[in-house]
Amino acid sequence: MGRLDGKVAIVTGAARGIGRAVARRFAEEGAIVFGADVVADELEHEIQRLQERGYRAEAVPTNVASAEEAQALVDRVLAETSKVDILANIAGIIVEKFIEDTAVEEWDRLLAVNLRGPFLLCRAVAPSMKAAGKGAIINVSSRAGVLGFATETAYCASKFGIEGLSRALADELGPHGIAVNSITPGVPTHTSMSEQTYGPEQRKIWRDPEVITPAFVQLALQVPSGIHNQYVNAFELSERLRAEGWR
Ligand SMILES: NC(=O)c1ccc[n+]([C@@H]2O[C@H](COP(=O)([O-])OP(=O)(O)OC[C@H]3O[C@@H](n4cnc5c(N)ncnc54)[C@H](O)[C@@H]3O)[C@@H](O)[C@H]2O)c1
Repeated sequence: MGRLDGKVAIVTGAARGIGRAVARRFAEEGAIVFGADVVADELEHEIQRLQERGYRAEAVPTNVASAEEAQALVDRVLAETSKVDILANIAGIIVEKFIEDTAVEEWDRLLAVNLRGPFLLCRAVAPSMKAAGKGAIINVSSRAGVLGFATETAYCASKFGIEGLSRALADELGPHGIAVNSITPGVPTHTSMSEQTYGPEQRKIWRDPEVITPAFVQLALQVPSGIHNQYVNAFELSERLRAEGWR
């Protein structure tokens, strides 16, 4: 028996990095996973690997920044399963430039993927979660959601935005039985994003994103009387869960 048996999960950014690791873990825990990503070929390949292992997973190529595509993703999940139990907003991009070098288009694109995308998907799942009186929303944030870093104005603005979105949504959806949290990896993870951004010191200690997936499972199981309206450190929570016998 998996911890997420029968639960329906939407995982964005499921083709690579943290989203791929979370999609795998959710499937291994028995969830029916709808993986969304813009890199359609890699997404299909990843989901096919899960299907070959006997897990229930579907690839839904989606640009989360598109209102039409985000709504179509949720509509498809609801048409096929009648519910969404878990939404994990993990897709993200980064720009590291001084502000005067950051093109307006780069700012707009980053905010569209990192903040508008989660807004669109939360907006699309809210009615069915409210009708069900339950659900779990996990929004991936960062240390850049609570601290400012030079050359990351757009990225920090997007992740501070994720914090605001998550806090407001927790207040709004908590009374409907829906747990809403933001989560930061808490440890350097080796992903395609960190290959662009990490220097030699972080590369010495970066970990496979699999090590933080227990925290995502735990947040997926929450109700508002449990972990709710929190900024969660994924590595710390995962270590606590491993100490309790989780893998
Ligand atoms: N890697 C880190 O060190 C780190 C640290 C803190 C927070 N994060 C956050 O974790 C999340 C995942 O990052 P990662 O490191 O796994 O990066 P990654 O680049 O490995 O994966 C991000 C995924 O998002 C997808 N994506 C990008 N734009 C998209 C769009 N418009 N629609 C749908 N999918 C899209 C990419 O194709 C990719 O598969 C991001 O939100 C990132 O900000 C990462």
